Amino acid sequence: MKITVVGAGNVGATCADACARQELANEVVLVDIKEGLAEGKSLDMWETSPISLYDTRITGSTNDYSKTAGSDVVVITSGLPRKPGMSRDDLISTNAKIVKSVTENVIQHSPEAIVIVVSNPLDVMCYTAYLATGKKNKNKVIGMAGILDTARYRSFLALELNCSPKDIQAVLMGGHGDTMVPLPRYTTVSGIPVTELVAADKLDAIIERTKKGGGELVNLMGTSAWYAPGTAAAQMVEAIVRDQKRIFPCCAWLEGEYGLNDIYLGVPVKLGKEGIEEIIELDLTDDEKALVNDSAEHVREVMKVLDGMDLF
Ligand code: LAC
Repeated sequence: MKITVVGAGNVGATCADACARQELANEVVLVDIKEGLAEGKSLDMWETSPISLYDTRITGSTNDYSKTAGSDVVVITSGLPRKPGMSRDDLISTNAKIVKSVTENVIQHSPEAIVIVVSNPLDVMCYTAYLATGKKNKNKVIGMAGILDTARYRSFLALELNCSPKDIQAVLMGGHGDTMVPLPRYTTVSGIPVTELVAADKLDAIIERTKKGGGELVNLMGTSAWYAPGTAAAQMVEAIVRDQKRIFPCCAWLEGEYGLNDIYLGVPVKLGKEGIEEIIELDLTDDEKALVNDSAEHVREVMKVLDGMDLF
């Protein structure tokens, strides 16, 4: 098994580190455009291997994609992060060009790779990567957002309930932005519906905090988050390389599911060695459907900006 992580910034480095520590592959390659950065970070990580006791070989490369040849999974984290006051959508003009060229380079050397996109604005960057692969296989271009967003939601619920985050399960749909749709009806604490444990006003406040969870961190740190995003991407890699058939909310290309067509959006999927092996269609209420449709509309607005860039 070989995993490539493109972008040796905070998110990419966290993801590569998590992949190596969990020995998800024999080889992890970190690539970055900045001279020496990927080589340096990967060497630093490799020097932890005798302490952390893993043997996954991590190497770095400055923009030499031949080093990534034959990767099974490629995680794309390249692009600018947000600064305070910016929405993820503000990044599109810069990041679309980067994600397009990175995907083309990746596919040239690893035509069969499963591509996990992390760059923002997430849903439209997935679409960009899918277009850059020539729309070859929709199940092999997947976006990481739902695991991160549900992790935030679950972590806030664990604080509210003073219980272990391990016991909290949740589904979240829609775009990776302020219109995301956490679904309390599908949120449980060891099988107990969350609505029986948390008062409605408290749950609403947690949902609002979740929707703005990325922004909360941008405001605190002056740049966007990395521990949870990088770890969430590594969990997707694990499900794929270990063929776990895990069910996660991920950003997937929809062709009629949920009544939506030709759009990347967050939905529950089954992840295994083929990438997305199934999209799970929940029986949403009218209110839930309306929220998901609103979120899809928002993503379509950003898709129009991409179309206007004439990159494809
Ligand atoms: C966040 C970025 C990674 O939500 O989108 O923190």
